[in-house]
Amino acid sequence: MMKTEKIATRATVLPNWREEVHAPLANAALGLTDVLLTGGGEWSTEIPMPEHLIEAACQAVRGRPQYTSEYGLSELQAAIARKLADENGITVNPTTEVLVTNGATEAISCCMLALVEPGDEIIVGDPYYMAIYKPNALMNGGHLVTVENDREAHFRFDPERVRAAITPRTKLLVLTSPDNPTGACLPRETLQELARVAEEHDLIVLSDEIYEKFVYDGNSHVSMASLPGCRDRTVVINGFSKTYGLTGYRVGYVAGPRSLVREIAKVRSAISLCANEVSQRVALAALDGPQDWLPPIIDAYAEARNILVEGLGAIVGVDITPPDGAIYVFPHMGSYGLSSMEMSKYLLRRARVATRPGSYFGPSGEGYVRFNIAPNAETARAVVERVGEALSELKRTGHT
Ligand SMILES: Cc1ncc(COP(=O)(O)O)c(C=O)c1O
Repeated sequence: MMKTEKIATRATVLPNWREEVHAPLANAALGLTDVLLTGGGEWSTEIPMPEHLIEAACQAVRGRPQYTSEYGLSELQAAIARKLADENGITVNPTTEVLVTNGATEAISCCMLALVEPGDEIIVGDPYYMAIYKPNALMNGGHLVTVENDREAHFRFDPERVRAAITPRTKLLVLTSPDNPTGACLPRETLQELARVAEEHDLIVLSDEIYEKFVYDGNSHVSMASLPGCRDRTVVINGFSKTYGLTGYRVGYVAGPRSLVREIAKVRSAISLCANEVSQRVALAALDGPQDWLPPIIDAYAEARNILVEGLGAIVGVDITPPDGAIYVFPHMGSYGLSSMEMSKYLLRRARVATRPGSYFGPSGEGYVRFNIAPNAETARAVVERVGEALSELKRTGHT
């Protein structure tokens, strides 16, 4: 037994999501079969992998994969730069302004490591993707300043609230649009207003656009970096986990002004040298290959999202805001008097539906439960039916 505590504060201050969230849910799932939905934000393994991606992976494996540049394979950097120009209206230098990472998660970590100093404040919406943003802020001694986003406003940022949260220590504004868990998709006018705030206070904007392809009800994704004057203060985070269902391949990227990307690349190199070559080859095949297999999947997400919104919304005591985008629905179920963790466990045991408790997504998430949409109408109907039955056995104790 060591006599002194040797673990760095950097680690001890971090939340332990395994013990706080994942293990209790895994324990509640013990012995259960026929559980619907994955809980986590990934495509179901029932969706077949396209042949051209399997082929790219096999070829890469046979070729004895190597280290790549810390910025990533140059062909992949070029393909990402083309995609950003064609789809997002952002012009970047492929060699110096695109950095490939192990998932968007590593992109976020590298950005925070390169940009956040002890005492710096980082503004995020609440609810938000706390699982990654919180530990990465804490690891660097940063303070997260949460700005509450109202259900009535579709959980979209209110630029005036952001303005009010700014202090001389504010360095970063994190925008996740479409958002996890709320689905909020920021309209152009809101982004323009936020751009003015960022300029007035000289903030760097971290724009997490990983759900860009999933937008519903006529909403459209606009990248902050494409707005006039924003490119040089915006770091775009994106990846292949959601758009192409390549979660396990772990490929993401950072795109931004050269002066920032250069520093972020140094951190990225220190952490793991480079993203693995096999996964980068698959990502390249995804971008360069046919795209026509994607719209049917996105349409199936939209159909299942509608079924869940309508079906769960019709259950007494469930209050649901139709998500603008992303791959989740986030109903409020607080009127049943259970904590969101208790509700997640109850739905697992009683309805055999996997969810995540709203408390996992920030202080304002309590009372909510996040359902990961499966792009399958039959599954969505079964979820509604099972949740409806399970809730009918619970007594409501409050108001939504
Ligand atoms: C908003 C957001 N950003 C980033 C990520 C991380 O994605 P990746 O699998 O590319 O690390 C997720 C994953 O769920 C997410 O929801």
